[in-house]
Amino acid sequence: MSFLKTLLVGRPDGLRAKILGRDKATTPSPPPSSPRPAPAAAAPEPAEKALGLRKEAPKDVNPPDGYEVVLHKDALADGQIIEVIIGGTAIAVARVNGQHHAIANTCPHAGGPLGDGKLDGSVVSCPYHGWKYDVTDGSCKTNAAVKVRTFDVKVVGNAVCVQM
Ligand code: FES
Repeated sequence: MSFLKTLLVGRPDGLRAKILGRDKATTPSPPPSSPRPAPAAAAPEPAEKALGLRKEAPKDVNPPDGYEVVLHKDALADGQIIEVIIGGTAIAVARVNGQHHAIANTCPHAGGPLGDGKLDGSVVSCPYHGWKYDVTDGSCKTNAAVKVRTFDVKVVGNAVCVQM
């Protein structure tokens, strides 16, 4: 049941919560009996800032046929990984030694969001149960019989483009 709720609503500290501004840290509320009015709500942050991204995806780039622009090439620092939803497909985009890599976001073990995992070198650990995947080839370091889909990545101008 908890998994179904997470699937439908998302995790409280997940990507959807951050985009929708449900992050508890950004929505202060006064105590129920407070005589003082609640502080004015801060202006919503751009999605890129809320996600910790450094730059917005460029809008003036024509990606190659079959590719989609997903991020600015400098949006991620080395060692960062993030979930990106493109055309209804969730992918995890990582930057390792200046190179971008994209894999399916869904962990084959039990559906964990790999884009929310911890990246160590080229290996991401699933946040649910810790299975490890190499973002460069999709191989699973925990179970050799498992692999996640990889997506071809090209950098065009300032845009990271992923073949969908
Ligand atoms: S869901 Fe990823 S390790 Fe279990």
